[in-house]
Amino acid sequence: MASVSELLRAARQRLEGYSPTADVDARVLMAHCLNKPSSFLFTWPEHQPTDSEARLFQQWIARRVEGEPVAYLIGRREFYGHEFLVSPDTLIPRPDTELLVDMALNHLDGNAPLRVADLGTGTGAIAISLALARPAWQLFAVDMDAAIMDLVERNCHRLGAHNVQLVQSNWCEQLNDRFDAIVSNPPYIAEDDPHLEQGDVRFEPLTALASGRDGLEDIRLIITQAVTRLVPGGLLAFEHGYDQAEEVRELMREAGLTALASHRDMAGHERVTLGFMPRARHAD
Ligand SMILES: C[S@@+](CC[C@H](N)C(=O)[O-])C[C@H]1O[C@@H](n2cnc3c(N)ncnc32)[C@H](O)[C@@H]1O
Repeated sequence: MASVSELLRAARQRLEGYSPTADVDARVLMAHCLNKPSSFLFTWPEHQPTDSEARLFQQWIARRVEGEPVAYLIGRREFYGHEFLVSPDTLIPRPDTELLVDMALNHLDGNAPLRVADLGTGTGAIAISLALARPAWQLFAVDMDAAIMDLVERNCHRLGAHNVQLVQSNWCEQLNDRFDAIVSNPPYIAEDDPHLEQGDVRFEPLTALASGRDGLEDIRLIITQAVTRLVPGGLLAFEHGYDQAEEVRELMREAGLTALASHRDMAGHERVTLGFMPRARHAD
């Protein structure tokens, strides 16, 4: 029987050239096969996994060589300091999206009982991170199919987010009330973008990624629907592609939103754009 360090060495060699993160991938997969923290691998390199643990590890390495994302193999991904269950029904949460969470937290009153909708919630990463950071808010986690609702429900339960309401809806169609804020990381990749054929995204559903010929079809739709559902002074905030900020600001301007601002990610790209509903004018 092979030891942890022998299995890891062989796995690294198999992954070399297929994954840019061969060493980390092998360690994460091994730790999950053993159901141990990754520190175990450093402390007990001579430990011998059981036959079934070693078999599962080899199967996962083979699937990783085919390109399957580590998060789908282990069914988990960390976002905003919380561990989310993930599934191939929706996008794996990305670190970039933490900027959208930060912006919502920075621009909204943390103590007021605000109603905040997260459109295209996926795993619930944005809605649940906001809900846990702001217990006074009521979050509405919106997505379009039942399997995703089930995933969000399990994540709420695991993470103890009690102030999240699930809404199965085609964007805002089932949202009747008014909201203080609507945030969204919608699909925003052009449907013929060659990146859709590369890396991890090949395994993620197109419904979570692609949005018409220019990548902006869903953002256009959401803006049109959101302005009828936001309170005066309400916030609309999007994550979008690194080269879409100007177009998103223009779409928001055309819809009558004000105080438009785009914010940069760690790589210096404008990736999150905010706009506010005008406040109602007092009668003279
Ligand atoms: C880019 S993923 C974002 C997932 C998650 N919010 C995150 O940031 O990790 C977009 C999500 O929008 C959902 N979606 C796509 N079209 C939709 C529609 N018409 N109505 C509601 N949700 C939709 C997809 O199912 C997917 O979960």
